[in-house]
Amino acid sequence: MTAPEVPATGWSVRAGGPGGGVVEVQGSKNCFNHLGAVALAGDGLELRLDGVPPISDLDAVTRLVTGSGVDALRVDDALLLSGRPTTGDVDPVAAGRLRVSICYAAALAANVGRAVCPYPGGDAFTARPIDLHVRVLRAAGAECGHAEGGLLAVRFRSRPRAFDVRLTSRFGPSMGASVTALLVAAQAEGVSTLRGLCPEPEVAAVVAVLRAVGVLVEEVEDGEPGVVRVHGAGGPLSGSVRLAVPPDRIEAATYLIIGALRRTPTAVAGIGVHQFPAGLREAFTRVGLELRQHRAADGRPVTTVLGHALDATRVETGPHPAFPTDVQPQMAALLTQATGASTVTERVYDSRVSHVAQLARLGLRIDVHGDRQHVPGNQHARGGRATVTDVRCGAALLAAAAVADGPVVLHDPAAHLARGYGDLPAKLAQVGMAAERLAPPPGRGQDSLPGLLVGSAPAG
Ligand code: EPU
Repeated sequence: MTAPEVPATGWSVRAGGPGGGVVEVQGSKNCFNHLGAVALAGDGLELRLDGVPPISDLDAVTRLVTGSGVDALRVDDALLLSGRPTTGDVDPVAAGRLRVSICYAAALAANVGRAVCPYPGGDAFTARPIDLHVRVLRAAGAECGHAEGGLLAVRFRSRPRAFDVRLTSRFGPSMGASVTALLVAAQAEGVSTLRGLCPEPEVAAVVAVLRAVGVLVEEVEDGEPGVVRVHGAGGPLSGSVRLAVPPDRIEAATYLIIGALRRTPTAVAGIGVHQFPAGLREAFTRVGLELRQHRAADGRPVTTVLGHALDATRVETGPHPAFPTDVQPQMAALLTQATGASTVTERVYDSRVSHVAQLARLGLRIDVHGDRQHVPGNQHARGGRATVTDVRCGAALLAAAAVADGPVVLHDPAAHLARGYGDLPAKLAQVGMAAERLAPPPGRGQDSLPGLLVGSAPAG
């Protein structure tokens, strides 16, 4: 497999085919990003991940892992991670590109005794606190502080000890802190109790890998959801495990939304209806969209979205299986085309409205009141320019471009779309849109790139 590069140039998009095609769903970006961290909890661990997504985060994860001394080998769409970390210094460039880097630092520190890492990078639509990660590390006996250069320094003077920790913030369970806690507890001496473990599939995938290498993770009835006991191995993990990265429900939902906006029966292959969270399925039903499942000739599930009229609705994000925050911006874009006014309420983050100002540049109005977006329906989207400020903002802009009356130029200076959406031009072609890279004007650097120019083909 060739390494998916972060585009050094922009993209250009021309009107494409009729749409109504089949989009092959990639492996989940967020599952993959967390699964990679398991490799830093190993010593003699062999982890094979099949179906890794062809996104730029693949490079960042590979660099994070190899930078610590673990071997990484790509074979077709598989990533093989093996060996053991030899340093606690986390690659600062790769870490700066990923919100999940703190999980890698935690696994590494529990393994080799120390980690020095930048504070998390990745999407910056709101603050990225790490207090829950630090809570876990301190409960396991680590010292956490600042190192020179504004870095986070974690140090264990002896093996991590068993701990009892709560993994919820005022917004509910934290996916990242849950993975941090699992990877530290798995290497600790004794039995740790984790309370409020995040119910997202990303966390379940990490639990599956830990169990496959012999770590006992017990679900406990304790009068509250998400309590698990982790029987630590008393050191780094060993063994061999092979896992297929689950399908990317967020990518799939994005293309279903674009297909619905294009008013064509778009299909996503490799994901079944019930792999979408119930909150998302229910929101689609309320809007008037029907999801149907059939099996492809090779036995894989295929989900098709049907429906032409779009009704207004109320959407509220929440932990799995509620409506996912990572589809919230795309859904807000879709609801600008509904009959009547909708509301979209964000409950996972204190704020996630980075798409609002950018959609406004395409003529789409959303009024923000606290954590709620009021979305008037029946709006007219016009062609124009907008900036991709983070990956799902970019996805919302693609959805808006699907109904815009002319080409849309997406300026994507940090290449956010490449972080989450692999094979973008080919997949957009399946939904009746065309995109290709633009070369930068001679002598101009990446910051001045025009980005992605998106247009839509007539629906057929
Ligand atoms: N939080 C804290 N303290 C912490 C950690 C989190 O207060 O120490 C808060 C956050 O500020 C937020 C809430 O807890 O309000 C939930 O955050 P969480 O930790 O679950 O998010 P995350 O692990 O940083 C992952 C995904 C996000 C996704 C969220 C929620 C990756 C790489 N990131 O982030 O994905 O929105 O879980 O499901 O998997 C995206 O793909 O667009 C994206 C941002």
